[in-house]
Amino acid sequence: MTKVISVSLSPNTEKEDVLAAVSSVFQPWSWKRGLFIDRLERYFEHHFGFKKCISFNSGRSCLLSIFDAIDLKEGDEVIVQSYTCNAVINPILKMKAVPVYVDITSDLNIDTSKIAAKVTSRTKAIIAQHTFGMPCDIMEVKKVCENYGLIMIEDCAHAVGAMYDGKFCGAFGDFAFFSFGRDKVISSVYGGMLVVNNDKYLDKAVSFWERTPYPSSGWVFQQLLHPIITNLFVLPLYSSKIGKGILAYSLNYNILSKSVTNQENNGTLPDYFPLKMPNILAYLALKQVYKLERYNLWRKAVADYYKLELRNFKGLYFDPVSPLKRPIYMRFPLFVRNAEGLIEEMKKHHIYLHDGWRDSPIVPAKTDKQKMMYSNGICPTSEIICNQIVCLPTSIRLSKQDMKRVAALVKEYLETKNTNSQD
Ligand SMILES: Cc1ncc(COP(=O)(O)O)c(C=O)c1O
Repeated sequence: MTKVISVSLSPNTEKEDVLAAVSSVFQPWSWKRGLFIDRLERYFEHHFGFKKCISFNSGRSCLLSIFDAIDLKEGDEVIVQSYTCNAVINPILKMKAVPVYVDITSDLNIDTSKIAAKVTSRTKAIIAQHTFGMPCDIMEVKKVCENYGLIMIEDCAHAVGAMYDGKFCGAFGDFAFFSFGRDKVISSVYGGMLVVNNDKYLDKAVSFWERTPYPSSGWVFQQLLHPIITNLFVLPLYSSKIGKGILAYSLNYNILSKSVTNQENNGTLPDYFPLKMPNILAYLALKQVYKLERYNLWRKAVADYYKLELRNFKGLYFDPVSPLKRPIYMRFPLFVRNAEGLIEEMKKHHIYLHDGWRDSPIVPAKTDKQKMMYSNGICPTSEIICNQIVCLPTSIRLSKQDMKRVAALVKEYLETKNTNSQD
C-alpha cells in the first residue's frame, strides 16, 4: 500500500513513541501525579534558559494562567495577530476581554508597523505569535510594549527550539507558552508549558497552577489512545476508506479527542481547560523533547530542499531575510494561486496537505468569526493569504524519498497548471 504522508496526522510519532503510549496504558497509577512533570519543567528551564516553567495540559490552559496572573478584566483589550487559531482567542473571550486584531505580513506574523495604531487606554497585552516556527519581529513588538507599558506574551505554540538573535523564542516576553499538541513541533497529544520571565507574576502563576486540577483518568486515557489508534490503525489504512472511517468514528464517539471542538469554533472553551499537565503525558513529551534537535535539524534540511527545488516559482514561499532568525519550520508554507487544486491533486497521491490553517483568518475555517469579534476586511493580508496557503510537511515521519516525492509532485502541478509563473 502507498505510504500516506500527512502534515497534521501524528507527524512526530516514531515507533518508540507508540510503544511508550501502549505501555503507559497499563500503568494507570502513574497517569496523573509523578516525577515526569517536574523533569519536563526543569528540562525546559535548563535547556532553553527560561527562568520559570510551569506545565499545563495545553497552550490554552497556559493562556488562562497568564490572564489570571495579569488580572485581565472585562473590557480589557489584548492585541493579537489575525491568521491565528481560535485556541488563542477563546481564552481572551473567557475573561470577557476583547481581542484586537492586527494584520500580518508575508512571514505570517504580526505586522509590527501596524500595532501602535491599535493601542488604546484599554490595551493590556500583546500576544506575539511565531507562526509555524518562524520567529516574528520580536524586538519590534518589545519596543511597542515598552513604549506603551504593555505586557508581552510570546505564543511559541509552533516554535519549540526556534531562535532570535542567539536566544530561544520564549525568552523575550514577560510570559511565553509552548504547545505539545498532536501536530505541533513535539507532541504528547495535549500539553503545554508556561514560561514566566517576569518575577513580578511568578507567585500568581504558581498559585494558579496549585488551584488547577489534574485531568480525569478518562481524559488521560483518551489522549494515550491517540498515538496508538492513529499509528496502528488509521495511518496504515488511510489510503483506503477504512483508515478514514476509523478516524471519523473514533472522533465522533469520543474515543479520540479533537484538537479543537465545535464548541470552541463557536466561542466557548470546554471544561478541560485549564487543567494541569498529567504525569504520563509529561513522560511522552519528555521522550519527544530529547529528540528536538534531530527533529528541527531535519525540518530545516527539508525546508532547504523545498526551497531549492521550488526556487524558480515567483512568490511561492517566504524566506526569512533576517540573519537574526533561526526558524524551525514546523511546516513549510507555500502561497499558491490555486491552492485547493494543489491540495486535491496531492490527495490523489495520498499526500494530505490540509492542516486546518486555511480559508479563514481565524482557523479552523468553521470558526464563527463574529463570536471571535473579527469583522471581514479588517486584516486584508491575512484574508488573502489564508486562501492561498498550502503547508508542506517537514516532520520526522517524512523520509528523504517522501520529501523528494512531495517536491516533485508540487513542482509538476505548478508547471502544468501554471498557477505561479516561473522566473
Ligand atoms: C498559534 C497557536 N497558539 C496557541 C495554540 C493553543 O495551543 P494548545 O492546542 O496546546 O491549546 C495553538 C494550537 O492550538 C496555536 O496554533
